[in-house]
Amino acid sequence: MVESVTITDNRNGQTIEIPIVDGGVSAEQWSKILPGIWFYDPAFMTTAVAESAITFVDGDKGILEYRGYPIEQLAEQSTYLEVAYLLLHGDLPTAEQAEQWVREITYHTFIHENMRKRFLEGFHYDSHPMGILVSAVAALSTYYPDAKDIFDPETRHKQIIRLIAKMPTLAAAAHRFSVGMPFFYPDNSLDFPSNFLSMVLKTAESRFDADPTLVRAMDALFILHADHEQNCSTAAMRVVGSTHVDPYSACAAACAALYGPLHGGANEAVIRMLTEIGSRENIPAFIRAVKEGHGRLQGFGHRVYKNYDPRAKIIQDIAYKVFEVTGKNPLLDIALGLEEVALADEYFISRKLYPNIDFYSGLIYQAMGFPVEMFPVLFAIPRVTGWLAHWVEMLEHNTKIARPRQLFVGSPRRDYVPMSSR
Ligand code: CMC
Repeated sequence: MVESVTITDNRNGQTIEIPIVDGGVSAEQWSKILPGIWFYDPAFMTTAVAESAITFVDGDKGILEYRGYPIEQLAEQSTYLEVAYLLLHGDLPTAEQAEQWVREITYHTFIHENMRKRFLEGFHYDSHPMGILVSAVAALSTYYPDAKDIFDPETRHKQIIRLIAKMPTLAAAAHRFSVGMPFFYPDNSLDFPSNFLSMVLKTAESRFDADPTLVRAMDALFILHADHEQNCSTAAMRVVGSTHVDPYSACAAACAALYGPLHGGANEAVIRMLTEIGSRENIPAFIRAVKEGHGRLQGFGHRVYKNYDPRAKIIQDIAYKVFEVTGKNPLLDIALGLEEVALADEYFISRKLYPNIDFYSGLIYQAMGFPVEMFPVLFAIPRVTGWLAHWVEMLEHNTKIARPRQLFVGSPRRDYVPMSSR
């Protein structure tokens, strides 16, 4: 039996039956019976904006899969670059495809010298690295005018390779500039996460080899952040990309969305919150204040996960491995105490608020030596893959510009009043 809903317009008794397909009803069908009557859904709470085959999330069961593969298996066994291939191409690469993919990305890690010397050095000395990254990604479009040719698959592929390859270089450059350290060129004899850590952490060595545990942790964190279906920054990518602008400009918009404290900035907020709490004794008072509406428990809650965030569990395990190398982050005890109290508290239980990916990621980044300002930048490096996978999927399925409607609640028509008569 085909599942469907029937809508009746009580003004005239007209009805229409709309089939439920893949868990949704078509708004186009709806508009046939009710032209000019819009769904009022400002934060897309009940709106599906795309048919997508990339990432599956079941928020009630705490499931996350990239192209059908459970996130737990990918984080444990795969590499970020292999996952990037999977997200963009739909399947895991063969050995030959993987080799070519990694080679292509490795050869595109450098940025134009002008970009480093004139553009990046033009920022104020204490600029936020995420602000630098947003602008730098947008600026790339001016170096690659061929990127405008978005319907040519070969040109598109070239920009995808460039963006994935250059994100760590731009991120490292933004970080080094914001802390007054010299920029280091990519070392293409290193793998993707090692190369990034080398550009970030190197001082005077001719070659920097990061601790293998930290390299693996970085790669696993990149995998966990690579995609998360229709989140805010991906929605920004799709909306801006629907104008047919080049992918660098669309990615800059997505990056800007990720800068916000409710999205990519949440792990920074977690560290600030834990630092402010200061010690375990202050946890009950903090929780009380949150329940009374004074601020939020940062790193808790999610629009989709209403059971647990599977990424949070994996991240907790990574945290313990990283702390064996770096020493325990002193904020960990406060985080564990906070989690314990919140998970047993009726306020958080009834609202289905659980730790999300950001609750522990900041503790790891901080233990690895990254300043809090770098946290959203670290999120953006791998998320560019998700943005691009959704961008390609959108271009192949829908070439219409995104253009929502509104419910107008302003003044009715009135005549202009000269200033002397107001
Ligand atoms: N602390 C305290 N109360 C909360 C929290 C929180 N972290 N999150 C939600 N609530 C309460 C909220 O006050 C509301 O209560 P009531 O029904 O009494 O008004 C109820 O739970 C529902 O909240 P909501 O704001 O309607 O939920 P949402 O789906 O719009 O927001 C969220 C999701 C992630 C923005 C929100 O949970 C939040 O602000 N969390 C803290 C910031 C954070 O950790 N963000 C990272 C998200 S995961 C990374 C990513 O995917 O970008």
